[in-house]
Amino acid sequence: MEWAWVGVFAGFLCIMVGHLIKSLWLEPKRKTEYFRAQGFEGPPYKILGMGNGVEIARLMTESRSMALPLDNNIMPVALPFYHLWSKLYGSRFLCWFGSKPALCTDDPIVVKELLMNNNGVLQTMIFNPSIKEALGRGILVLNGSDWERHRRIVIPAFGIDNLKEMVSRINESAKNVIQCWTQKARSCDEFELDVFKEFKIFTANVIGTTSFGSEPGQAKRIIELLDEQIALAIANYSFVPGYRYLFVKRRWRNMKLRREIRKCFTELVEGRKKMGKRDRDLLGSMLEANQKEAVNGGLSTEEIIDECKTFFFAGHETSAALLAWTCMLLGIHQEWQDSARAEVFEVLGTERVPTWSDVNKLKTVGMILNESLRLYPPGVAIARKAVKDCKIGSICLPKDTQFLVPILPMNYSETIWGDDAEKFNPYRFSEGSEKAMGSFFPFGKGPRACVGQKLALLESKILVAMILQNFSFHMSKNYIHSPVVFVTLYPQHGIPIILHALKRLVAINRR
Ligand code: HEM
Repeated sequence: MEWAWVGVFAGFLCIMVGHLIKSLWLEPKRKTEYFRAQGFEGPPYKILGMGNGVEIARLMTESRSMALPLDNNIMPVALPFYHLWSKLYGSRFLCWFGSKPALCTDDPIVVKELLMNNNGVLQTMIFNPSIKEALGRGILVLNGSDWERHRRIVIPAFGIDNLKEMVSRINESAKNVIQCWTQKARSCDEFELDVFKEFKIFTANVIGTTSFGSEPGQAKRIIELLDEQIALAIANYSFVPGYRYLFVKRRWRNMKLRREIRKCFTELVEGRKKMGKRDRDLLGSMLEANQKEAVNGGLSTEEIIDECKTFFFAGHETSAALLAWTCMLLGIHQEWQDSARAEVFEVLGTERVPTWSDVNKLKTVGMILNESLRLYPPGVAIARKAVKDCKIGSICLPKDTQFLVPILPMNYSETIWGDDAEKFNPYRFSEGSEKAMGSFFPFGKGPRACVGQKLALLESKILVAMILQNFSFHMSKNYIHSPVVFVTLYPQHGIPIILHALKRLVAINRR
């Protein structure tokens, strides 16, 4: 009898070992040949190196200790593995995230097909499981019919009429920034600030007040909790599977945060539902759209809450990074700072805060923001995964193949942008971004394009205009140029700039 059990156990062990050999060794070998036949070379798959995961982690870690000269040649630091492998193997290559193949290509036809695809064979993917956990069932992590249902309810919240109403809330947050800086300027002629830190507070306020901000006290508390939860999710991320389970205290705190966030939001949403009247923020618009969609299956309270969390996650650091890189570029290129300020004075004068129609007149500021999004796109790549065998362009993808659309490398491609691709030249957007649209998509494109694009540009234009109206600035000598990627492309050591108030003691309170 005992021998029979030993036999069963040995059989089970053989099956397991066979399965491991197949999935960790034979399949990657077969797929390497399969993709090589389609023109994809790449770094060798390493069983103990988690595919190329360990090497990617090493390159990313090493790049963090590098400081670059103050130009825009940022690829070696921002995406070191892409920089290295595209030089060795060309702009289409194969690498491995664990035992899963990942293809990279900047071929515009393939990229377009990947992003425009809506037949469900390609799905979005989030690499960080802690972020997935924090976002619950928000639109960013969903696929298929659930994603369609969410998107139908989320999209109207970002419509033009709602955006127009958000201008006054954004102006309030922007005034707080200017007011606080003006206070600093009272005691000294010039002062130094890390604007990335400042912009993170500004964008958190904007997303809080435009998403669920009719009750400022409640919004502030929720912002604090969400901020802490996302910081924890980021700290918990590692290429090592199971790493996030090692820190019991962090997990404990995370669970507490989740409970508290849910409680605050549930009170907020249920309170709104009882009030019956529509509040003029994203939550209010979603609740309204949800009522209309009820017959087609609307969203539950839990799902609405997850959408609010998603807006915060997707729209907070991305927009702060856009503002920070823009200030850096204007701090270096004084001639563009002067010409943008001249435009702001022409449209707003020296005192007025922007209205919706003013924002549309700020063409130079718009061009500068586009060029900043090109050189320093907060989202450096878009990932997709094939959930069935399929064909994209001329490439056959077996199920489970991942694809990276390299936004940052494409933004630096000389084939697309010409020999001055690395130069800051906002003139290239003088006819809008549509002309370059085929290959310029900092907000993604196709069915999964960013829902918050217009909000991000609106808040950025308003704050940049108000800063230019009140201050001149240049880079501090303490600035270290080290743009690195962790979820977004951000300045690792902040963006210290020296600010000088244009009209000291501006009585902003009088406005
Ligand atoms: C400069 C600021 C921003 C940048 C560069 C940016 C970039 C992007 C990109 C590239 C995508 C597409 C991802 C993909 O195709 O898989 C995306 C999606 C998304 N963004 Fe943004 N974003 C920004 C601001 C915002 C803001 C302010 C919000 C919300 C308030 C927001 C909410 C979202 C959501 C919900 C999605 C997912 C859409 C879907 O999957 O259907 N983003 N964003």
